Amino acid sequence: MITDKRIIKAIPNLLKGIDIPDLGEKQSGKVRDFYFKDNKRILITTDRQSAFDVNLGFVPYKGAILNELSAFWFNATKKIIANHMISTPDPNVMIGKNCQGIPIEMIIRGYITGSTNTSIWYSYKKGERKIYGLDFPDGLKKNQKLEKPVITPTTHGGGKGGHDDRVTREEILKSGIVSKKIYEQMEKATYALYQFGSNIAGSAGLIMPDTKYEFGIFEDKLILMDELHTPDGSRFWIKKTYKERFKKGLEPENFDKEFIRLWYTDRMDPYKTKPPVMPQELMVAASRRYIDVYEKLTGKEFKVFDYPIENRIKKNLKKAGII
Ligand SMILES: Nc1ncnc2c1ncn2[C@@H]1O[C@H](COP(=O)(O)OP(=O)(O)OP(=O)(O)O)[C@@H](O)[C@H]1O
Ligand SMILES: [Mg+2]
Repeated sequence: MITDKRIIKAIPNLLKGIDIPDLGEKQSGKVRDFYFKDNKRILITTDRQSAFDVNLGFVPYKGAILNELSAFWFNATKKIIANHMISTPDPNVMIGKNCQGIPIEMIIRGYITGSTNTSIWYSYKKGERKIYGLDFPDGLKKNQKLEKPVITPTTHGGGKGGHDDRVTREEILKSGIVSKKIYEQMEKATYALYQFGSNIAGSAGLIMPDTKYEFGIFEDKLILMDELHTPDGSRFWIKKTYKERFKKGLEPENFDKEFIRLWYTDRMDPYKTKPPVMPQELMVAASRRYIDVYEKLTGKEFKVFDYPIENRIKKNLKKAGII
């Protein structure tokens, strides 16, 4: 098992971003830097950690964990829906089919929870009972399982600082962002992927209370893109202690980005005060949890490596004939 000392040693050299002049102009999202080549999108997952629409710093090994975990899930779910993954020439790199992205995030929730202003708990605790155009019963408690999973889509802002806003199914269909036929395919895939993911998470001793999917069109077909069932885009709770803690009104044991969000919301309103950079102890704790969730889900040990990794990435891209 990786020691805290090794994680701390990595901190000065984490992957903050990567410049690859041979691939032309760099573009960046909150977590990934990406380049284009032919019909491909070269996605490099960095160690950047964002929440509440701001960068909070970096988490050791996070980029590789997200990338390798996505690859694991893309392989496992390709029978449910085709996806963008072509190859992963480096732990931090995914070569994807470059799609026409659909500017909607399909968020699916099997539990009522969350701390951001797009979460259903955020609205429910204020007394709202119609959320995302869906009806919710009285008497729900935070972190309670819903009778059945619900889809709560948001618009996808795109680019750094882009905002994700709530939308309803009706608004999406009326707006014509996607055709009804494509949206129905997205809904069907969303339910099926969530069911599949929840089952695997369950066997690994985890609950996946919610997650999100991004879709795109490639060669006239709907495909899944971006990342899949990672602790950045999904929540993961420890199954064993969930019931007991829920009964006592305690938060579940979080193994995802929510762990970081809660560290902040326990101390401030991050939408009012600009949240400070993560302290070292939070970086280490987050790294451990991300490694843990990777190992639980894949059943494989996470291969720890030495930083810096910029040269390794470039070498692997060369070997793969990308640069
Ligand atoms: N195969 C693909 N084709 C087209 N776009 C993709 C593909 N895979 C991922 N993307 C997009 O590339 C970007 C990846 O960067 P990242 O994950 O850092 O973005 P993000 O911060 O989550 O989102 P954004 O900044 O766009 O709101 C996202 O905008 C994502 O929608
Ligand atoms: Mg993303």
